[in-house]
Amino acid sequence: MRFRFRLLLYPFLIFPLMPSLLSAQTNKSYPASRFPDRIILGFKGDVSRSQAVNWRTDSTVSDAVVAIHEADPSPDFPENARIVKAKTQQILMDGKKVSYHEAVLTELKPASQYVYRVGNGTYWSEWFHFKTASDKNEPVSFLYFGDAQNDIRSLWSRAIRGAFSTLPNADFMIHAGDLINRANADFEWGEWFEAGGWVNGMIPSLAAPGNHEYFKDENQKGTLSRHWRPQFALPENGPEGLTETAYYIDYQGIRFISLNSQEAILNSEVLEKQAAWFEKVSRENPNRWTIIFHHHPIFSTAKGRDNDEWREKMEPLYKKYHVDLVLQGHDHTYARGINMPLGQSRKKPDGPIYVVSVSGPKMYALGLENWMDRAASNTQLYQTVHVDQNKLSFKAYTVNGEIYDAFDLVKDKSGQNSLVELSGSLKMQERLDLPDELQKRFKEAELKEYNERFQKYKQRKAIK
Ligand SMILES: [Fe+2]
Repeated sequence: MRFRFRLLLYPFLIFPLMPSLLSAQTNKSYPASRFPDRIILGFKGDVSRSQAVNWRTDSTVSDAVVAIHEADPSPDFPENARIVKAKTQQILMDGKKVSYHEAVLTELKPASQYVYRVGNGTYWSEWFHFKTASDKNEPVSFLYFGDAQNDIRSLWSRAIRGAFSTLPNADFMIHAGDLINRANADFEWGEWFEAGGWVNGMIPSLAAPGNHEYFKDENQKGTLSRHWRPQFALPENGPEGLTETAYYIDYQGIRFISLNSQEAILNSEVLEKQAAWFEKVSRENPNRWTIIFHHHPIFSTAKGRDNDEWREKMEPLYKKYHVDLVLQGHDHTYARGINMPLGQSRKKPDGPIYVVSVSGPKMYALGLENWMDRAASNTQLYQTVHVDQNKLSFKAYTVNGEIYDAFDLVKDKSGQNSLVELSGSLKMQERLDLPDELQKRFKEAELKEYNERFQKYKQRKAIK
């Protein structure tokens, strides 16, 4: 009798609840308090002798400081910590005044571990460790993420946490734009900082802005998110007007250059000005390796998307200045490859390796173009890059920790790279199926077209 009752009742209990459980989601709000939050390391100068940090509090906090000491396993160091004053700015976010604080810690020793906390003498953060860069060409390891953008707390958190689990000793993290969906939505930035949590306080971040970091101001002018500059400490060595969005750092023998593709695509004057700046910093580049990151891809991975002016301007410059690797986002798919004619050996690339990736859950249809050597559809990923002297090793991981793509670049004495293709020996097959949502939405002709493209891609793969 009891058994029968359960059977009868269960469908009514479960099924009416299902749609709301799956779709509706209330956004969490992130009010500032006197205690520091959104603590994030960045770079403002010489990476081996300085480190910058930002954080947020409510507007009652003034006299913001950082306490810093050389890392020490005993808990007795706090009383001897050096106090560094921060700069504070008050900003109106969602109608509420909050304080953003930024401090640059200088006179640090290279390749040394430090411990720090931020606060105002009464309301403190926990103590965090970080390590300065070496002033020599030691090995470098870093993480790279494509767009986070949507459902950041719910679904992107597994990307950054998976990445940290794979590479806990990363020197820094690169975000290639569209970190959030709406430039000034404070709760989205709140989700982004919740996902990264204390990792952001230990491993510095570099970020390039995407189109979603821009909003239209009252004069309809595309303007950088009000959060960007107060919350990130990024180098201020870029072209005028693109401060903290186009910049470079030299890290243990590698020049990393962030470009602002959004402003370049919208304004040809900015495109020219930024390209001239890029040429200048590339001409004067004393480093063995050059890695570029920006939001809009030089070669698109999503069907029907193209940034032709951006490509026509920048691609010849990347070749001219021997850029090794270009890390990008925007197309909500994954692809890695080289712009070389089909049938030609790809062992000696005549230009950079291009990567487009996506770390968040928004997914587009793959373009499956000729330049691609490995692609993925409907897959959240993060990437690790390790550079040791003459060898760069790249790996893409699915957010649940499986290796999806891998290659090495080996540089000879003259600076010529050889590509060592490693994807062929991976366990995972290429994931090229359309995302479910697109399969449902596509009309018959679109599905047929995708299928044809898929078949052609497979045929080309057999030729390569
Ligand atoms: Fe984008």
